[in-house]
Amino acid sequence: MASTGSRSTNITWHEGHVTRPDRERILGQRGVTIWLTGLSGSGKSTIAVAVEGELVRRGHAAYVLDGDNVRHGLNKNLGFSPEDRTENIRRIGEVAKLFTDAGLIVLTSFISPYRTDRDAVRALMAPGDFVEAYVSASLETCESRDVKGLYAKARAGQIPEFTGISAPYEAPEKPEIVLDTNRQDVAASVAQVVAYLEREGHLHAPSTEASARG
Ligand code: ADX
Repeated sequence: MASTGSRSTNITWHEGHVTRPDRERILGQRGVTIWLTGLSGSGKSTIAVAVEGELVRRGHAAYVLDGDNVRHGLNKNLGFSPEDRTENIRRIGEVAKLFTDAGLIVLTSFISPYRTDRDAVRALMAPGDFVEAYVSASLETCESRDVKGLYAKARAGQIPEFTGISAPYEAPEKPEIVLDTNRQDVAASVAQVVAYLEREGHLHAPSTEASARG
């Protein structure tokens, strides 16, 4: 992949007249990115879609960014080498940052196997905007589910650099949320994420005083 450094010159950042709290008050929520990370088959996408559904049912604006889907479009020129995965996560991080600034509750569903890549996204965003949610399931569990039949192919040597088999997965050290899908069902994970959002004040608009512009 090409270098990810900036190649543009003579560009200026423009501030708009509408602030993020303005947008958040309209939406009745505070933007945030819930960054789900875990092995293929751990349950990331299932949980992301279920949380999105529950939030929308409650009248919130939520949006899922999913690995398999984003790789059909924005990131279709990327494969699964360490460099391409890093670029995959960098681009998604930038998109998640924009969507969070738009006031959305974003749920990302990417293996994102490298700690440094996830930490780079965290560093990109304001404190509290990036919430790491480790979808924890053992390799045995994921392999026994093998929803997409990819573990069997990877074991047969048909998929190189497959996470957990022939490529690494680095579990988060201090995730804000741990969803243990070895032990709990989808509904329990959804309840856990929604409770987190509620507790951290994301399901209410910012108050006018707290976000008053000076
Ligand atoms: S990441 O490592 O760059 O974060 P991402 O989440 O976008 O990966 O894509 C993972 C999905 O791609 C998996 O759920 C699986 O369906 C598919 N896939 C295809 N090849 C691989 C591979 N070598 N390793 C992991 N997943 C793969």
